[in-house]
Amino acid sequence: MDRVELAILLKKHNQEHLLSYYDKLPQKDKDSLAAQIEKVDWKLINLINKEKKQQKSSIYEPLDGMRIEQIESNKKLYYDIGIKTIQEGKAAAVLLAGGQGTRLGCEGPKGMVNIGLSKEIYIFELLFKNILDVARAADTWIPLYIMTSNKNNDQTIAFLKLHDFFGYPKEFITFYIQDETPAVDYEGHLLLEAPGQLSLSPNGNGGWFSSMVKANLLDDLHRRKIEWINVFAVDNVLQKIADPYFIGATISTNHVCGAKVVRKTDPNERVGVLCLENGRPSIVEYYEMTDEMIHARKDNGELSYAFGVILNYLFRLDKLEDMIKYDLPIHVAEKKIPYLSADGNYIEPDEPNGYKFEELVLDMVHLFDNCLPFEVIRENEFAPIKNAAGVDSISTARQLLINQGYIL
Ligand code: UTP
Repeated sequence: MDRVELAILLKKHNQEHLLSYYDKLPQKDKDSLAAQIEKVDWKLINLINKEKKQQKSSIYEPLDGMRIEQIESNKKLYYDIGIKTIQEGKAAAVLLAGGQGTRLGCEGPKGMVNIGLSKEIYIFELLFKNILDVARAADTWIPLYIMTSNKNNDQTIAFLKLHDFFGYPKEFITFYIQDETPAVDYEGHLLLEAPGQLSLSPNGNGGWFSSMVKANLLDDLHRRKIEWINVFAVDNVLQKIADPYFIGATISTNHVCGAKVVRKTDPNERVGVLCLENGRPSIVEYYEMTDEMIHARKDNGELSYAFGVILNYLFRLDKLEDMIKYDLPIHVAEKKIPYLSADGNYIEPDEPNGYKFEELVLDMVHLFDNCLPFEVIRENEFAPIKNAAGVDSISTARQLLINQGYIL
């Protein structure tokens, strides 16, 4: 598109400010900006207002989980099935490492954060230690896919290379970059991060499978004869990856999807809860729950909506492939977005200043016919690092690790 065509298009969408620096740009930057603008999905911007007005009219019902006691009594069965699945090379893991960790405020990829006290212990290192333990128990390497974003891919790869992938063989590690979407200010104006560059950000962790497909990794998964994919977040340092018990329990109970869950500590705990929505598995966010749902209890006094998700899912690959034709809902998230101001200064805001558009992995669960809520002991498996201080911070995670016997 030339300048005239761009100007017409941008006027139509009330985004003429994107050409503020255009005339002074070298030709290659002009072309690059034009290409980025051509790719914009203008429908996203309308979502800002829609999302605010949208009221869900779903019918929610509790979904009972597989409890710790039940898992304990079938421990051997689940472990044997899970480990056999891993040994047959049918399980892979996907590390979601494309996030920007804005709440934590770290400079580079979150996995590079050193949480050690007396020595260096990186978040990535703890995750690799975990998958190494399972690989050793199974005496087989588990293919590990690492989703990064354009913003952190090079740094992530360089860091892991420097640390020799913390002992994991690199032939079993595949990196891929997730898709991006443009960010906007509160009025819906697309932001620039440089004169010839839209402010683009990763499209949310729900983009993991479609980005994997775009990266042509389906063939790789098929070639390796993968049937199950364990997807997990980078920021839970007690994460159990390719957990044989979880895999075995999901398979032996004929589920096509599983979600690790913890029992809520408090009815008002701010976690997404696994339940049924219009008869299908679904994760209802804490802010979508009515007071009635939050406080509903069963006859035995337990919370009806008791099981919170911890971003560790198991998906059957053939079902994921069936689902690729469905669009996931787009969430409009308020975030701190660095941008180029009208007077040409690069601003890194301290407070949220606009919206990013994200797909979320939790919405994938609703596309599956069933999902096993697999209860885990919170103290053993859940130490999230989300915030710079207070709840779910490095200091709370350190304490949880120390409680588990880690020497930091
Ligand atoms: P969060 O939802 O906590 O997002 O990610 P975040 O980007 O890390 O942190 P904030 O919200 O900016 O503070 C949960 C998991 O999903 C991954 C993250 O890396 C983390 O493992 N993620 C998130 C992606 O891989 N891509 C994304 O676009 C977003």
